[in-house]
Amino acid sequence: MKIIEPCTLAIFGAGGNLSQRKLIPALFRLEIAKRLPEQMVILGCDIVVRTGDEWVKLVTDILRGVYAKGIDEDALKRFCQRWHYFAIPPGDDDAYTRLQELLDGNTDFPPNVVYYMAVRPADYPKIVEKLGNVGLLKETSGWRRVVVEKPFGYDLLSAQTLQASLYRHLDEPQIYRIDHYLGKGTVQNVMVFRFANMLLEPLWNHHYIDHVQITHSETLGIEGRADYYEGAGALRDMIQSHLMQLLALVAMEPPVSLTAEHLRDEKVKVLKAIRPITQNAVHAHAFRGQYASGVIDGKTVPGYHEEKNVAADSTTETYAALKLFVDNWRWAGVPFYLRTGKRMAENSSAICIRFKNPPQDLLRRTRQGPSRPNWIMMGIQPDDCLKMEMQVKVPGLDMHTRTMSLDATYRKETDEEYDAYEGLLLDVMLGDHSLFLRIDEVEAAWRVVDPVLKVWAMEREFINTYQAGSWGPRGTYRLFDRDDQFWRHSLNLDGADIQAY
Ligand code: BG6
Repeated sequence: MKIIEPCTLAIFGAGGNLSQRKLIPALFRLEIAKRLPEQMVILGCDIVVRTGDEWVKLVTDILRGVYAKGIDEDALKRFCQRWHYFAIPPGDDDAYTRLQELLDGNTDFPPNVVYYMAVRPADYPKIVEKLGNVGLLKETSGWRRVVVEKPFGYDLLSAQTLQASLYRHLDEPQIYRIDHYLGKGTVQNVMVFRFANMLLEPLWNHHYIDHVQITHSETLGIEGRADYYEGAGALRDMIQSHLMQLLALVAMEPPVSLTAEHLRDEKVKVLKAIRPITQNAVHAHAFRGQYASGVIDGKTVPGYHEEKNVAADSTTETYAALKLFVDNWRWAGVPFYLRTGKRMAENSSAICIRFKNPPQDLLRRTRQGPSRPNWIMMGIQPDDCLKMEMQVKVPGLDMHTRTMSLDATYRKETDEEYDAYEGLLLDVMLGDHSLFLRIDEVEAAWRVVDPVLKVWAMEREFINTYQAGSWGPRGTYRLFDRDDQFWRHSLNLDGADIQAY
């Protein structure tokens, strides 16, 4: 285990959605696991004026909510002792000078500092500028690192502008562009599965693979985040970042090593090989939708238009699906289907790889029903799992076949359970960039989605809707090349495994 130096973690937007939902629980899990350095201090920065005690009470309430069945009281006590709070009310121009006075030369705060931008993306440049102006980004007494969340910009041009503004105060090694999907266990397992198992490599190409589906569906709506989501939409929020990263891991060539630059070089090569979608091809390659009210877990939930702060005529997509082609030697002609949606039927993220049918269908006269292809499926959440579907003969006198699933669920009861942020937070403190995005990856991903965003931004008159609690808008099937290709909704064999609508 690598030793982490003592450091200060300053979270901007500490009271916001990301911090409450992800960062505070993740840091607490690290506290329970005793993985945080002993002298680490956490500084919550937010626009709300509150005392340190009020803040610690809020942190405690959040964690007691997460651990409703019982919390590790010792860890909670240790965790609360790490926290300080610093208010930066809007328009308070002296706040950053006060922050500099608080941090610099104060032995309570270790001089190695991580600044975590858990704020609206539009605020990153302002905060970095202000930190830079008061000298808080200079690495004179210790390292200074800045973590920026996705989306990095809202299109290619704005990503480049944002980058230029960060470079005014930071060098590349100081910047950590986070995509928390890269911290998920199964996502890292894609690399282990591909590169530690020799039997797959000969099959991992256009000769044997029919198509790849990458899905993230969630039952949650926008959770009061209209301010951000109205300007983002599903394509920017999930596909440009998380799902394109999954595609890159599935499709990339084996890297020379797993070091940051080798890994990212290979991901960039794949992203650059994605065939550009011309504006007149957008409708053949992309589909969007917006949730209308419906029923989830037995409760009626409002439609997107009824959510707070959503414009009455909003055409922001809460569902997006893309068909992409990776134009290289390995993947020529293999479609990659990516889809994501809020207020869908289930919480599920998975990579499903469908194989081609055998070149000759020897069993067509004896089999009952159509031939079934092989699938390899990697479940990312809610459960991490690995499944493979094969055809076998049904025991008995007839030559009937049946699909069976080889279920290599690899999690053991005793295995540690983490979300995604824990490992990534440790990596920032360790200075390891492997699971963070390089700017050329971000740019390549924007190049893929930009034409779609442009066309959708012009088409403001109409958007398809889907009922909350369903699998998305009708009509997305038209992205598929053939009638026998369908969205795979479930990783199980029973009944609803393969559906079309
Ligand atoms: C975030 C998106 O990046 O990822 C959210 O902004 C989405 O809209 C979330 O809900 C999904 O992450 P996870 O880890 O909960 O699957």
